[in-house]
Amino acid sequence: MKLPNYNEAKNREKVDIKYLDVNIKYDEIYKGKKYFLRTYGCQMNVHDSEQIKRYMTMLGMEATETLEDADVIVLNTCAIRENAHEKVMGYLGRCKHLKKTKKDLIIAITGCMASQEDVALDIMKNHKYVDILVGTNNLYDLPKLLIEKKTGQNIEVYSNSDIVPENVNYERDSKICAWVNIMYGCDKFCTYCIVPFTRGRERSRKMENILEECSHLVQNGYQEITLLGQNVNAYGNDLNLGYDFADLLENVAKLGIPRLRFVTSHPWNFTDKMIDVIAKYDNIMPYIHLPIQSGSDAILKKMNRRYTVEEYKELFNKMKDRIPGVSITTDIIVGFPGETEEDFQKTLDIAEYCKYDGAYTFIYSERKGTASSFMKDDTPLKEKEERLQRLNEVINKYSRINNEKLLGKEVPVLILGESEKDSTKLYGYTDTYKLVNVIGSKDLIGKIVNVKIEDAKSFSLDGTAVKE
Ligand code: 5AD
Ligand code: SF4
Repeated sequence: MKLPNYNEAKNREKVDIKYLDVNIKYDEIYKGKKYFLRTYGCQMNVHDSEQIKRYMTMLGMEATETLEDADVIVLNTCAIRENAHEKVMGYLGRCKHLKKTKKDLIIAITGCMASQEDVALDIMKNHKYVDILVGTNNLYDLPKLLIEKKTGQNIEVYSNSDIVPENVNYERDSKICAWVNIMYGCDKFCTYCIVPFTRGRERSRKMENILEECSHLVQNGYQEITLLGQNVNAYGNDLNLGYDFADLLENVAKLGIPRLRFVTSHPWNFTDKMIDVIAKYDNIMPYIHLPIQSGSDAILKKMNRRYTVEEYKELFNKMKDRIPGVSITTDIIVGFPGETEEDFQKTLDIAEYCKYDGAYTFIYSERKGTASSFMKDDTPLKEKEERLQRLNEVINKYSRINNEKLLGKEVPVLILGESEKDSTKLYGYTDTYKLVNVIGSKDLIGKIVNVKIEDAKSFSLDGTAVKE
């Protein structure tokens, strides 16, 4: 048993990273059994679930979409805001109910919630029907725990891991787009954020291992790779091997993948070298997600974001100048502790200034253990909700205006599949990461095709595939 421990998580002394080969052969002791996996949260979690699926297959299990049919239920959870927590707890109630009639049912919680100190204690005390808790840093322990099937609760969470899993052999959801982890963890400690606690210290994979994984994807016909890290700019800092994110990006681009993306970038230490590489290669998509979080210097300081609004603007303008046609999106939090109406006005100002292609906007959510959870927060929720609404009006206005600029144009779109809303249509993304609903034949799925844009809304475009 190993419980999450925030004091351990805060310990960022330099250690040597250990690379662990996790491609182990297991006996198929779960042959004929079914697993149900539900994923919450960000791309990192979606990709982690591709790792979990691999482990389940290795144990002989098959996936089911029906909760009631499952022998093993895995909830891969998110902790970023309280509503993510509530969703999981609600779902857990349904799972508990099933255990009354299915005594052998195994319930596992993985991911960020499992890595939260207070959540692990709550599960131990009040949710004894949960069998397994595995943290984000050691998902590779899940098969071991399922094989051992010890009685009682099995909790394995490492808050300060020095391990990087290699040779994971992901069971990927898509044959067109692939996620590739380049690093794990985050050392930034923005004061509102739980991630440095749940995902631990920054640990980079070696460039050669990343390139090997990417060339494999290229050989297998993948059209798009997205490099993943909580803050990709920090890639390589912990390795001291003389290369950085710009070098990695350039080397992956040279492998010839048709489309290359990356998320997420912190505005702090986004170097000119990185901008130059993005501008130089046609297969690096002109799209950058650049979270600003607030437009007020006072709030940015309280958030420990390490840049001022002026510095952000300078970077933003440099990107717009040097990368032709770049689209930039952002994340913004409203109602951070102590945010005044005046601070919020400055957030509206920066949204007006940047005219973002899109933004994810959130009401501040207190996370236990983070520095901001100790700050005085006296803005009523109703006021925060009003601020969010006012901000969204500005954000939506500019995303629509930016989308409308494409009206009548022909743009390359990578077609990913049938549209969920309308099965007579396809859907895909522009190089600038705009969602397009496309009229065209199904054999275009997996291809980059020119699409004539005929309608533009705030969150999507409509168009028709152009015959070659
Ligand atoms: N409350 C609200 N939003 C948050 N985010 C991270 N932590 C919190 C929090 N405690 C937002 C940030 C981040 C995005 C992934 O989630 O905007 O960029
Ligand atoms: Fe959280 Fe800040 Fe790290 Fe992003 S950079 S994961 S917001 S601590």
